[in-house]
Amino acid sequence: MSRYRQLQNIFIDRIEVNQYIGLDTSILFYNKLLESIRKPLKMILLYGRPGTGKSVLINKIYHDAKDKRNVFLISTPIQKEEEFIKKLYSFILPESTIPEDLTYNRFIDICNALKEKKHVTVLLDEAQLYPSGMMEKIRLISDTRVIKFVVSLHKTEKEDLIAKEHFQSRIWETIELKNGTIHDTRMYIQKKLIHHNYFEIANMFSNSNIRLIHRFTKGNYREINKLMFTLFEIYDYYETNKPSKISDTKIKNKYIEMSALKLGYIHA
Ligand SMILES: Nc1ncnc2c1ncn2[C@@H]1O[C@H](COP(=O)(O)OP(=O)(O)O)[C@@H](O)[C@H]1O
Ligand SMILES: [Mg+2]
Repeated sequence: MSRYRQLQNIFIDRIEVNQYIGLDTSILFYNKLLESIRKPLKMILLYGRPGTGKSVLINKIYHDAKDKRNVFLISTPIQKEEEFIKKLYSFILPESTIPEDLTYNRFIDICNALKEKKHVTVLLDEAQLYPSGMMEKIRLISDTRVIKFVVSLHKTEKEDLIAKEHFQSRIWETIELKNGTIHDTRMYIQKKLIHHNYFEIANMFSNSNIRLIHRFTKGNYREINKLMFTLFEIYDYYETNKPSKISDTKIKNKYIEMSALKLGYIHA
């Protein structure tokens, strides 16, 4: 595989914890979330636009949890209520004891019986996909304080409403993830390349390159990934077809602009 092909692969969206990068802001949010989890809260709302690093963050929190018996992650919403409730049950009591006909009401009774005796944290990713009736039940389960939920959801116009209905009156704690700053963008690109031992490539990015990348992507990590992927795709093309057009010491802004054009961030 050519070098630029390999570089493209680095910038494919993934949420593997060994690929986690500690950026100033991501560390800040990490500590904030950890602090909230330690507080006697019922729910914590983690929200932000797609691509701001919510999944990466909660996967990291889950991975780092010292006591795995107390922290659980549901990455993809379980659509069937019965299955979802059974899953929650398995987090607080042995799976072998799950009643065949476990209903939501029965589960609430079980939680009430376990009050003060059991406390677990459940991380729910992509929570915007739970129907609003289910969200309401999740909230009522959290009222028993046996399960504390970290609810991660995308912030969009529509979901802002969901957030309002369910979260406003009893704001437990909300953490909003934001796009990265120019500094984060620089660190993200540099650290990702260095992590894969591409020191020379990391050095090819000037401040002007980074500012341009930040301008096109607004510091959204998913967009940065896409732009970097496309940029290396273009470099791969030139390396194979017109190697005299590219330098191996500097990235030309022209190619960043070409990537932005290709991705539709700008129009010719
Ligand atoms: N701290 C980080 N370390 C490494 N990669 C990150 C980090 N934050 C974001 N990313 C990258 O950005 C992409 C989008 O992040 P993700 O957590 O999936 O966003 P969200 O869940 O908010 O939509 C991930 O696939 C990953 O490649
Ligand atoms: Mg996500």
